Amino acid sequence: MKLDRASALSGTIDLPGDKSISHRAAMFAAIAEGATTIINFATSEDCASTVRCLGSLGVRTERTENVLVVEGVGKTGLERPSQPLDCGNSGTTMRLIAGILAGQNFDSTLVGDDSLQSRPMKRIIEPLERMGAVIDAQNGRAPLVVKGKNPLSAIEYQPPVASAQIKSCVLLAGLNADGLTTVIEPVPTRDHTERMLRWFGVDVGVEGTRISVSGDARLVARDLVVPSDISSAAFFLVAAACLPGSDITMPNVGLNPSRRAVLDVLVRLGANVEVTNSEENCNEPVATLRVRGGFGPTDAERLIRGDIIANLIDEVPILAVLGTQIEGGLEIRDAAELRVKESDRIAAVVENLSRMGANVTEFPDGLRVERSQLTGAEIDSRHDHRIAMAFAIAALFANGPTIINGAAAADVSFPGFFEMLRSVVR
Ligand code: S3P
Repeated sequence: MKLDRASALSGTIDLPGDKSISHRAAMFAAIAEGATTIINFATSEDCASTVRCLGSLGVRTERTENVLVVEGVGKTGLERPSQPLDCGNSGTTMRLIAGILAGQNFDSTLVGDDSLQSRPMKRIIEPLERMGAVIDAQNGRAPLVVKGKNPLSAIEYQPPVASAQIKSCVLLAGLNADGLTTVIEPVPTRDHTERMLRWFGVDVGVEGTRISVSGDARLVARDLVVPSDISSAAFFLVAAACLPGSDITMPNVGLNPSRRAVLDVLVRLGANVEVTNSEENCNEPVATLRVRGGFGPTDAERLIRGDIIANLIDEVPILAVLGTQIEGGLEIRDAAELRVKESDRIAAVVENLSRMGANVTEFPDGLRVERSQLTGAEIDSRHDHRIAMAFAIAALFANGPTIINGAAAADVSFPGFFEMLRSVVR
């Protein structure tokens, strides 16, 4: 994919449905009693992986563009799959479905692509085995053979890393356990699971960082609408903020407090963002975002670290690109988890920003970027969707053309990203 410098972005953008919320909507609808219609279901390849796995588990679904109808089978009604379940590139698919499968009375195998099969799974194997499932894996990596059991034993679990995927996995297993299962989060992470379980009628206990579900809980089918994905909006927020004269409007964007830190950081740095039409839809806050180019004066710190990292974990690559465009640059620390995402995102960002001539320093847990004039270069996406898209935005700020190799990876979360970007570039 070849991209050139742009002078501004303008227009209105209808972003795809939120990936995190769509995964949960499909999975929870599958284990609910009754049929659920999901509107604005993500078009991403990752969410298609979830739907495919549910199909192999005997769940009937019908898809028309971005509407998905799921015939729920109840929380123990899944069928033993006749073949391995292919989670593709999707960590959320594998880690959340593993939690559901742990409480089924059959064995199943979860596989994925090379990236997913190199990602750490011990973080879910450990709690699920404590609950009584047996999970075979080589070196804590997929393929995972999940030997389920019903009921599981309820546990109280404190994950060693802040991860909504671990939390969700354990809570989903807890739905098939003999008592109250509690996850104690080291740092608050996205709470879509808690909100959506409630939408499906489950009593979720939340006391500070302790989140509990009971094995008695039942999920009742209930139609829902998925907000547009703030992680996809982030690319356009940064691009428009950095290009003076830009004016981009994005309706219906999910502004869950545990996901919106990217927006708050931009505003603190002086970006001109207007939030209107705020409402709550299906337990998730949504609003229209309008961003206009240019930054106002600010003395905000140029260091992002600590608990906020979990809230903007998927936006770090595009925030690093932002750092090249703002006075004082940007330093991001406490983000070592980025090394075990779809690629080593710290290494990928440092390598590709360096290729574009940026002044960037790598740390074990993050990076520091100085304000830099970027030059077009050849970018390696490492088959990672967020790297491909972050550098498509970097290309808009660069002198000379940029080539993104492996640009098709964008489809993992945002099919049509490049067409949408071209349609608003001026
Ligand atoms: C996700 C949680 C995050 C995030 C991922 C989606 C989720 O991962 O990076 O893209 O839907 O729960 P971790 O929870 O492992 O940090």
